[in-house]
Amino acid sequence: MSRNIKRIAVYTSGGDAPGMNAALRAVVRTAAYHEIEVFGITGGYEGMMDGHVTKLETRDVGNIIQRGGTFLKTARSERFTTEDGRKQAAAILKKHKIEGLVALGGNGTFTGADILHKEHGIPVIGVPCTIDNDLYGTDYTIGFDTALNTAVEAVDRIRDTAESHDRLFFIEVMGRNSGYLALHTAIASGATLVLLPEKETTYDEVAKVLTASAKRKKLFSLIIVAEGNTLGKTEEIALELKTRVGAYDTRVAVIGHLQRGGSPSGADRLLASRLGSNAVTALLDGHKNAMVGIDNNLIKYTPLGIAVRNQKEISLDEMRLAEILAL
Ligand code: F6P
Repeated sequence: MSRNIKRIAVYTSGGDAPGMNAALRAVVRTAAYHEIEVFGITGGYEGMMDGHVTKLETRDVGNIIQRGGTFLKTARSERFTTEDGRKQAAAILKKHKIEGLVALGGNGTFTGADILHKEHGIPVIGVPCTIDNDLYGTDYTIGFDTALNTAVEAVDRIRDTAESHDRLFFIEVMGRNSGYLALHTAIASGATLVLLPEKETTYDEVAKVLTASAKRKKLFSLIIVAEGNTLGKTEEIALELKTRVGAYDTRVAVIGHLQRGGSPSGADRLLASRLGSNAVTALLDGHKNAMVGIDNNLIKYTPLGIAVRNQKEISLDEMRLAEILAL
C-alpha cells in the first residue's frame, strides 16, 4: 500500500445489475478496514453534479448483500457527457475532499469516468457491473450470472408450454450490443437456435434450421433472440418465419427487465465482494485509472480507456457448441 488516501467516494451508474449492493458493501467495509472515509454518491453522475454526497458507515451496508438493484440508485446522464457537467462534478468532489472514486457500472459509466480522470486528474477505479458481460478485460461482469439464471428459469417455464402445445417460441433476452447473455441462455436452456448481434444471420438460414427440425419430427422449438440481433425486432422475425415455415404455431415472449432484477446469485455475490474490495486496495496501491476485473480467477487491472474501446469477443467455440447440441 503506497498511497495515503483518506477519503473516497463510490457510485453506481447506468443500468442496475444484481450484485451492485454486494459490491458497495465490499467497498465500504474494505475502506473502513483501511481507515478510509467513504462517501456514497446517490443517483450516479446526476447525483455527483448535484452534490448528493453522503458519508457511509459500515452499518449502512448491512443486510444488503442479498438485495438486487442498488441502494445508491442509478441513472443514465446526458448532462455528464458535457464538459460543463464534468466541471460541476469535479467541483463537488473537490468540495468534499474526495481523493479517489470507485465507479460501479458498464461501458457508459467507465467512458465518463475515464474522461473525468483525464480532465480533472481524479483517480478512478471501475468495477464492472452489467448483465451484458460485454466488458473487455474481465471474464465476467457482476450481474451476468444472476441474469443468466433468471433467463434460463424463464425459458424452462416457456418450454413447458412450447412442448405441451407443439409451438415455436421466440424468446427475447437483453443485450443491445452483446450476445453473451443470449448465447449462454441458449446453451443452458437447450434452445434450437440463437440470434446474436455478433453474427450476421439470414432468414434463409433460420428457415432452413426450422424446416430440418420439423422434418426430424421436432414438434416444438425455442429460439433465443438477443435484443440487438442482426435481423431486427423479435415480433417481426417471428411473423416473417411463420410465413416461411408454416409447420409451427408461433409465439413471442420478451423476458425484458425481469432479468435485470432479483437477488444476486452466490457467484455474483462472490465476484462483487472480490472486485469491490480490490477496487479500494487498487486506489491504495496507486492505480489511478483502471477497471478491476477477473481473468482466469485472478484479479486483473485494465485501463478504463482500453476496457471501453475494445470489443469483448464472443466465444466461437460456444457458438459452435450451441449449434451442435441443438441437433
Ligand atoms: O446494459 C444493460 C442493459 O440491460 C441492456 O442489455 C439493455 O439493452 C439495456 O440495459 C436496457 O436499458 P434501459 O433499462 O435503460 O432500458
